Amino acid sequence: MILASLCLLSAPLPALIPAPERYVPLAGTFELDSKTVIVATGDAKPVGDRLREFLRPATGFELPVTGIPKNRAIELRIENQDVSLGAEGYRLVSTPEGITITAPKPAGLFYGVQSLRQLLPTQIFDKKKDTGLHWTAPACQIIDKPSFGWRGMHLDVSRHFYDVKFIKEYIDWLAVHKMNTFHWHLVDDGGWRIEIKKYPKLTQIGAWREKQKAEWSYSGLIFPGKDSGKDLEGGFYTQDQVREIVKYAADRYITVVPEIEMPGHSTETLASYPELMCSPAKDVLDAYIKRTGNDYPSMVCAGKESTVEFFQNVLTEILQLFPSKFIHIGGDECPKDLWAVCPDCQARMQKEGLKNEEELQSYFIHRMDSWLANKGRRLLGWDEILEGGLAPGATVMSWRGIAGGIAAAKAGHDVVMSPTSHCYFDYPYTSISTEVVYGYDPIPGELTEEQGKHVLGAQANIWTEWISSPEEVETMMFPRAAALAEAVWTPFQRKDWADFSERLKTHYDRLDRLGIAYYVTAPTPISDVILLGDAAGVEFNKPDVPNSLVRYTIDGSEPTANSPAYSGAIRLSKPGVVRAATFRANGTKSATISVPVMLLNANDEPKVNGVIRRVIQGKFDKCPEPAAFASASARNVTEVSVTDLAGKDEFAVMYEGFVRIPEDGVYTFSLGSDDGSKMWLGDSIAIDNDGPHGYVEKRLRLQLKKGDYPFRVVMFEIDGAENLRLFAEGPGLTKSLIPASMLWSKE
Ligand code: ACM
Ligand code: ZN
Repeated sequence: MILASLCLLSAPLPALIPAPERYVPLAGTFELDSKTVIVATGDAKPVGDRLREFLRPATGFELPVTGIPKNRAIELRIENQDVSLGAEGYRLVSTPEGITITAPKPAGLFYGVQSLRQLLPTQIFDKKKDTGLHWTAPACQIIDKPSFGWRGMHLDVSRHFYDVKFIKEYIDWLAVHKMNTFHWHLVDDGGWRIEIKKYPKLTQIGAWREKQKAEWSYSGLIFPGKDSGKDLEGGFYTQDQVREIVKYAADRYITVVPEIEMPGHSTETLASYPELMCSPAKDVLDAYIKRTGNDYPSMVCAGKESTVEFFQNVLTEILQLFPSKFIHIGGDECPKDLWAVCPDCQARMQKEGLKNEEELQSYFIHRMDSWLANKGRRLLGWDEILEGGLAPGATVMSWRGIAGGIAAAKAGHDVVMSPTSHCYFDYPYTSISTEVVYGYDPIPGELTEEQGKHVLGAQANIWTEWISSPEEVETMMFPRAAALAEAVWTPFQRKDWADFSERLKTHYDRLDRLGIAYYVTAPTPISDVILLGDAAGVEFNKPDVPNSLVRYTIDGSEPTANSPAYSGAIRLSKPGVVRAATFRANGTKSATISVPVMLLNANDEPKVNGVIRRVIQGKFDKCPEPAAFASASARNVTEVSVTDLAGKDEFAVMYEGFVRIPEDGVYTFSLGSDDGSKMWLGDSIAIDNDGPHGYVEKRLRLQLKKGDYPFRVVMFEIDGAENLRLFAEGPGLTKSLIPASMLWSKE
């Protein structure tokens, strides 16, 4: 008896993602074979049909879906009385005699089916038949329901277009992860992507932009028309295709929430229907347009009644296509400078008693809100819709942090959380790691329990300015979407990153079989820098994704599939760099990391407190070489910061001197910047944070002896929002901006 229960406890829990609320292992296994039947009738029948489809490709079994109970069946049954499970919860009991899934609603049965798929061998996700496998699932009991009702992913199909086939795959992947909302960002400056019968020019003109030189630029958005003979990029979905996708999603218990962006991000709308533009004096308009580098401004006129009518007519067709309760109207990032000089906008403000342009935007959104409410729908918008006064029926999608969500929830409005801190999957993994996403709790601590109920859930967004292929979407999405799925499904108290990471190893195998090109983590060096003469050598942790190995070079070149495979500490005989990347058997490759091997000698006592700073002007896209600063004037400073250069766009700055290490120990330096930066120790680049980017922090950890070491930091700034921070951490020093006491120079 005791032995048996010990066995049960030590049986590994299956790698379910998202983890269920409750899982109890039982003795034995259930085996699926060609004789298995699916018992499902009435409202359970469509879910039974789905299950049959899910199981068919890998098993080759044509399992009948029947109403006749049978031994060793998979039975799906609606049981309305189990109200504690809510609209999406389910129970699953697996025994050697059969599997039973019960739920109050079909959606719950569907999620039970997703758990069943994950109880089976990972090969069940194969698209081709596997032979010679036993399709077993552990005996167990699962009682499960989601923490949140809004479990979403967004995709921007405007900046880059994604075809119907890909959208369906995207929906398949959401279903695997028990997500229930697909936010389809259908229109934006990059192109209008949905057929609107009343306004055909939206897709004859607005869906096709002149091919840009770069992958994307916010200027140079030109829409010459589909038949112009120009080199164009774009595309759109016909209404038939939209209906097909909405049905495909509904069959998987996923609601498609369409977004029709207004009144900003509308360059493509104005290219199609210029009469929706503001009408200030011609020279003012011409100068404005010239400054944007586009054919048209990005905001429609909020003063003209015809603009309101236009969008309501568009929404009339949208409502026919999308049964979603929520209709997203955008509302974000609308520049209002043309409104301030447009007679129509000003007349509207006068007539309605609106004090400023924010209130004009609010007025415009109110018009949409009451119109949608009249049709039995609810308006959803980005958190800018709070500005100038929130419309009475509006639900807020909080993206510029969580403040908008908090304000709206406190005011009694529903909110969906999607902050840039955790939910922007177009941001690199170095800014938003899978672990950061995993740790997300959609309910801000500031809210009372009652206010917290207004948080419907969370979603992640994939903006596609710089994401132009399905593979790139997949890489940005996974494994972060798996982490998000657990953050919105599994009770917060049950989440455990170490446990999730372990389950993720199995889940990667599923993602492989689903054909998803997920993000492969770069090799993790045991030590960020090796000082020449260290006994250690450069060492890497074992890759965390299956079927992969680390390959490296020592000549500074990019590692390739032909570079030597890492098998143990790499030792160099002179200063240099070890570059390494993780390679998958299927050919995908991680980012490359560099581990400097450097000679670093403590120097003879620099006497002057502070380091030398030099600033040069120029338009850089990477850190200039130190020599470029030779003729700039030098100034002694005791902090590494550019706050005094705020607003001075297009410059580069260099700090040079010695970093004083007060005692022997392991020190960590973190260099954060917007845009790029680099740090040298001695003659070696120790932190490489180069390139144009938003604020990114990179870290360096190394063992140092007491002494003064030559160092240098270079940073450049382009396109606003400059920021530079150097943190130090070591014995007796918690992570803080590098103190003046560590900054020294000789003269
Ligand atoms: C947004 O990212 N502009 C909502
Ligand atoms: Zn106007």
